[in-house]
Amino acid sequence: MTNSAILQIDHLKMHFKTQAGYVRSVDDVSLSLPHNTNLGLVGESGCGKTTLMKALLKILPPTCHHRGGSITFDGTDITDYSYKQMQAIRWNKISMISQSAMNALDPAYRIGEQIVETIRIHRRSVNKKAAWDHAAAYFEMVGINPDRLKDYPHQFSGGMKQRAVIAMAMVLEPDIIIADEPTTALDVVIQAQILERLKLLQEKYRGSMIIVTHDISVVAQTCSLVAVMYGGKLMEVGPVNQVLKSPNHPYAMGLKNAFPSLLGEKKSLISIPGSPPDLIHPPTGCRFVERCPFETDKCRVQVPEMQPVDSSWTACHRLSEAEALRQEAEDENIWLKKETA
Ligand SMILES: Nc1ncnc2c1ncn2[C@@H]1O[C@H](COP(=O)(O)OP(=O)(O)OP(=O)(O)O)[C@@H](O)[C@H]1O
Ligand SMILES: [Mg+2]
Repeated sequence: MTNSAILQIDHLKMHFKTQAGYVRSVDDVSLSLPHNTNLGLVGESGCGKTTLMKALLKILPPTCHHRGGSITFDGTDITDYSYKQMQAIRWNKISMISQSAMNALDPAYRIGEQIVETIRIHRRSVNKKAAWDHAAAYFEMVGINPDRLKDYPHQFSGGMKQRAVIAMAMVLEPDIIIADEPTTALDVVIQAQILERLKLLQEKYRGSMIIVTHDISVVAQTCSLVAVMYGGKLMEVGPVNQVLKSPNHPYAMGLKNAFPSLLGEKKSLISIPGSPPDLIHPPTGCRFVERCPFETDKCRVQVPEMQPVDSSWTACHRLSEAEALRQEAEDENIWLKKETA
C-alpha cells in the first residue's frame, strides 16, 4: 500500500446469497484512493457500485457475504469490523450520501437536532450551541436557510432533504465522503451548485470523495481519478483526463462513444449494444466478452488481470493493442456488427 492512500481495497469479493446462487456483485475488486482526491465510480446499472460503497461502511444486509479480500482505511484493516465497531468511523471518518439519502433522516426529530446529535456523538467537547451554529453554517453551504434546522423532515421537499443529508455528511469533515448519485433527486441548476460546493469543501479540508454516478460529465467536472466498473469488476482505473480521452479498455471506449460531446467532438452517440452479464453465472473469462467487439478465444476462457500502463490500470487481454482498438472503436459499425453477429 502506498503511504498516500486513505483507502485501500484489495481483491474484495462481496456476494449476495440467493436461492439461485451467489450474486457476484463485487468480485475481486482492488482500488486505492489517495488522500485529498476525488474519484468517480462509473458503470451501468447493476454493476455493483452501491454494493462496493456499502461494503466500505458495513451497511450491507446479512445476505451479502464477504468471500475474500480486504479493506484498509487509514492504515487499519477494517475488513472484519462489525457494524458496531464501524460507529466510530461512520459519519466521522467516512460518510455516505446514499442513493436513497432521504431515508437517512429520522421523521420523529427536527433535522437540526439530528445533525447536532451526529456532531456531539463524535465531538464530545462541542456544546449544543456551537454544534447548532456549525450545522447552520453547513445548511447555508448547501443553500438552505439555517432557520429551517428547526423543521421536521416532512416539512422539507425531496431536494431539501437530499441537501440536508449532504450537509450532515459533510459536517464532521470526514476523510472520505461517499456520494452515491447524490444529486439525482435535484434539478440541474441545484445539482451543479451542490457538486461545486462538495468539491470546494473537500478541497478546503483536504478530504477525499468517491462520487458514484451515471453521468460522465459529473466525473469530468469534479474528479481527478475515475474507476470504470462492469459486471462486478473494475475494468479500468486512472486519471480522468486519460481514461475519458484515451481509454484502454473496450468497455470504457464504448462509454466514451456514448459521451462524445463532453470531449468537444461532434459525433453521433453510440451506445453499447447488449446488456450486462448475469452475476450468478458470469462469463468464465472477461465479464465484458459478450459485448466486446474485440474479443478473442483467450477472453472467453481467462479472466484478465489489472495491468498498469502509464498512470492507469486496465484489465484487458488486448491492452498492448489499445491504441489501434481505440481507433476502431470510434466506428459505430464495429459495435453494431457485434450485436447482429
Ligand atoms: N439485497 C440483494 N440481494 C441480492 N442481489 C442484490 C441485492 N442488492 C443488490 N443485488 C444485486 O447486486 C448487483 C449489484 O447491485 P448494485 O446495487 O451494487 O448496483 P449499482 O451499480 O449500484 O446499480 P445502480 O446504478 O442501478 O444503482 C445487481 O445485480 C443487483 O441485482
Ligand atoms: Mg447503485
